[in-house]
Amino acid sequence: MTGLIAALDTTDLAIARRWADAVAPSCGMIKLGLEFFLANGADGVRAMGDRPIFLDLKLHDIPKTVAGAVRAVLPLAPRLLTLHAAGGAKMVAAARQAAETAGAARPQLLAVTVLTSLEAAPGEVLRLARLAMAAGADGLVCSGRDVRELRDALGPAALLVVPGIRPAGASPDDQARTMTPRAAAEAGADWLVVGRPITEAADPAAAAAAIAAEIAG
Ligand code: C5P
Repeated sequence: MTGLIAALDTTDLAIARRWADAVAPSCGMIKLGLEFFLANGADGVRAMGDRPIFLDLKLHDIPKTVAGAVRAVLPLAPRLLTLHAAGGAKMVAAARQAAETAGAARPQLLAVTVLTSLEAAPGEVLRLARLAMAAGADGLVCSGRDVRELRDALGPAALLVVPGIRPAGASPDDQARTMTPRAAAEAGADWLVVGRPITEAADPAAAAAAIAAEIAG
């Protein structure tokens, strides 16, 4: 069953809280990214309450620094945390080792392969995906376009989280290659990440509910 994550991309804590309340019935998780985190810090994450959180920090540095960053966010108990596969196997392994110190409730580590804003050489997404999974990532952030190939290559255990989702007829905004919620769910995504189609809707609660209904089929 594919779940829905609302991307709450704002620096404004009050707005993020309002969106989180609106989408709560339809979304299993909320995503807080660099924009929110750099403006509001760890206190801002805590202020979002005990909702399951996807902390999208896309960590990328030397292994020791990334391990330290992972340990630094463990008290916030995010369910999902992102890092760049391009940081290399040692960096991913160091992140996993750091995450393990939180025990069973540790964050699941998602590797970003090639940013969708960049051109990927043929085979590069799969190469980085395999590297990250072998080094200890729990899954990947990937485009809807790649999800079926990655699912086939990596098997059912890999957590595949897919942004760039647009309901049929919605504006693509700046997303170059979008996929509908239904198509991404059928391709094998575990979670879909949706931002502006929810947060910029006149009624974010209704928009999230409609997307959740489309996922469910
Ligand atoms: O508003 P929209 O639905 O495009 O938001 C998608 C979210 O997913 C944003 O928070 C964006 O940073 C994130 N994301 C993405 N493409 C990626 C990785 C993350 O759109 N490849």
